[in-house]
Amino acid sequence: MNAPVNTAKPTATPRISFQEASRTYPLGRETLTALDRVSLDIADREFVTVVGPSGCGKSTLLGMAAGLVEPTGGRVLVDGEPVTGPGPDRGVIFQQYALFPWLTVRGNVEFGLRLQPLGARERRERAERAIALVGLAEFADALPRTLSGGMKQRCAIARAYAVDPRVLLMDEPFGALDALTRVQLQDQLLDTWGRLRRTVLFVTHDVDEAVYLGSRVVVMAARPGRVHRVIDVDLPYPRTEEARLSPEFAALRNEVWHAVYHQPPAPRAPA
Ligand SMILES: Nc1ncnc2c1ncn2[C@@H]1O[C@H](COP(=O)(O)OP(=O)(O)OP(=O)(O)O)[C@@H](O)[C@H]1O
Ligand SMILES: [Mg+2]
Repeated sequence: MNAPVNTAKPTATPRISFQEASRTYPLGRETLTALDRVSLDIADREFVTVVGPSGCGKSTLLGMAAGLVEPTGGRVLVDGEPVTGPGPDRGVIFQQYALFPWLTVRGNVEFGLRLQPLGARERRERAERAIALVGLAEFADALPRTLSGGMKQRCAIARAYAVDPRVLLMDEPFGALDALTRVQLQDQLLDTWGRLRRTVLFVTHDVDEAVYLGSRVVVMAARPGRVHRVIDVDLPYPRTEEARLSPEFAALRNEVWHAVYHQPPAPRAPA
């Protein structure tokens, strides 16, 4: 049985819909299947985390929703429309900070708004709000080289927030940070999500992070990259330190851990 798990969650109008989405790359004379027929619906205001071993196609999946990677099979819809490229309805945050070193925090955040039909004053105000939201108000005039790693990443997050996208696509945004900063940014992200209620698709290597943030955890498997399991996280929001230390959290973490680290061998390719 090679049919992939049908992981689509029935919803009225999914914000993001992967429909048998595949992506292959040429690899010498062979073909590498980075993603194999992924079907997954993400509802408006959901917070979905994606976890899985290196090379299982997490970034490819996110890149498809972002419009940076074209599917070679199936399709990806956002609000019912096929994705044809990046757009201001989707904000992307990468692991690398990707800030312009010659622009200040404010300049970087305003740069993200350059394609929006805004006057200078509104652009400035939006940038200020986003900068305050991530706790960088005091550093609005600072250049990136004078900021810590966590502050740079907060700046990148502010840039995405300022655009006010309906969908936030985050690819291991906290991967390079120390544990304490990471926890702080996780809580800040949840806090912001709780207030703005955007749809979030969040890729991580970290099982704890996947469970703490997500309302569903998508566990992927490699070779070919595919969805292995989707695990519901029935922990209420707002999530607190108490939730993080609860037995329910521990049980879910074990379940996700097991799904990530004890995966069955890849199904054989269809003849
Ligand atoms: N542009 C590309 N050209 C060729 N192969 C690619 C390309 N991008 C990704 N791949 C391959 O597709 C597979 C999935 O890559 P992807 O970056 O999506 O994995 P990932 O799950 O994000 O891994 P990591 O956790 O290490 O970031 C890998 O085998 C990778 O080598
Ligand atoms: Mg990746």
